[in-house]
Amino acid sequence: MLYADYYGSAPLLDSVKEHLRKRLDSSLFANPNALHSLGQKLHQGIEKCRSMIAQDLGAHPDQIYFNSGASEGVSHIIGSVLINAPKDKRVVITSPVEHVVVLNTLKFYEQKFGFRIVYVGISPDGLVDIHDFESLLNKHKDELALITIMAANNETGVIQPYKEIAKLSHQYGVDYFSDTTQLIGKGDFHFEESGIDYGVCSGHKIGALSGSGFILVKDVTKLTPYIFGSTQENGVRGGTQNYLGIETLAVAVRDFTQNKNKLVQLEAARKEFEARLKKEVPQSVIIGEGAPRLAGTTLIGFPGVHGQAVLIELESHNIFVTTSAACSDNEPETSAVLKAMGVSDQIGRSVIRISLSYQNEPKDYAYLAEKLISTYNKLNRIHSY
Ligand SMILES: Cc1ncc(COP(=O)(O)O)c(C=O)c1O
Repeated sequence: MLYADYYGSAPLLDSVKEHLRKRLDSSLFANPNALHSLGQKLHQGIEKCRSMIAQDLGAHPDQIYFNSGASEGVSHIIGSVLINAPKDKRVVITSPVEHVVVLNTLKFYEQKFGFRIVYVGISPDGLVDIHDFESLLNKHKDELALITIMAANNETGVIQPYKEIAKLSHQYGVDYFSDTTQLIGKGDFHFEESGIDYGVCSGHKIGALSGSGFILVKDVTKLTPYIFGSTQENGVRGGTQNYLGIETLAVAVRDFTQNKNKLVQLEAARKEFEARLKKEVPQSVIIGEGAPRLAGTTLIGFPGVHGQAVLIELESHNIFVTTSAACSDNEPETSAVLKAMGVSDQIGRSVIRISLSYQNEPKDYAYLAEKLISTYNKLNRIHSY
């Protein structure tokens, strides 16, 4: 089997499985907020995990708050900032290529609380138009509540110039939230050096347990709780902590830190794979080709052959990919991200997303190339639309 949907969900890492096997045989299960020694031991364990993650991601431990994942993190951060925004600050600048959780959260605050959402222009390669961004900052300088532009895109893998966006946002005195869900655990990221004010992480995207995650917050005094409870997570996020999930987060982040040198090999193999496809199937189109991308991503289209047909054919060879994103696999239309990049329907409907990880070997790309080329040659005889 070749699993090539790491952006949908990464399978549990071997190091995480090993940790869980040992952990399930232990007798350390209790409420981490209890005063008895078992609870205290778990509490200390959580703090150790926080410190490990902080160290690996260039953050201070009191800038990390555990939760259930990125959707909660996005809702918490955007909600907190907008609820606390002064009455004259009603404009949010975002991009049209954000994940739906960001776009739908912003729509909610637009419809219920009268915020105005302004969308920055996107280049055909999927990058934020920095000149357009600067002119929007300038145009709305007295009414800015928040900037929210993702770090790496979940369909194309395109990495936005988030450090530059952070600098510009701060020049205009506005906080910057960058959705780091796909960057953490897949590319180099250092919270302090990034300059961003808020970030998010989902455990299942990095090989940890699903239902675990955390937010990164430069200044926690700016946050209000989204889920109310007692003193858990310093009052920032109520609810008994998912301590097994938290442990797997620390193991997964450490695993990435210790293995991220493998990204060089992954990127080289991806480039070779893309070059081979373009040579053998000259009609193929690689989305975001000219932009910096995460090492293991290729969003590729074969005009005239539907992406869903390619997906099904690849599955018959035990290769698992998605079309644009796992959550829109059932929609046979061009995704909103691709529309924002100006991609035609003919290409948009044909794409498949291949996302591999630092655990993959170059031979995986060789196998993928072989099967993708034969799939294309077979399906091209039919012309599915
Ligand atoms: C960029 C991005 N942000 C947010 C999310 C939401 O993550 P989750 O579904 O784990 O809450 C995803 C998931 O696909 C994502 O790719």
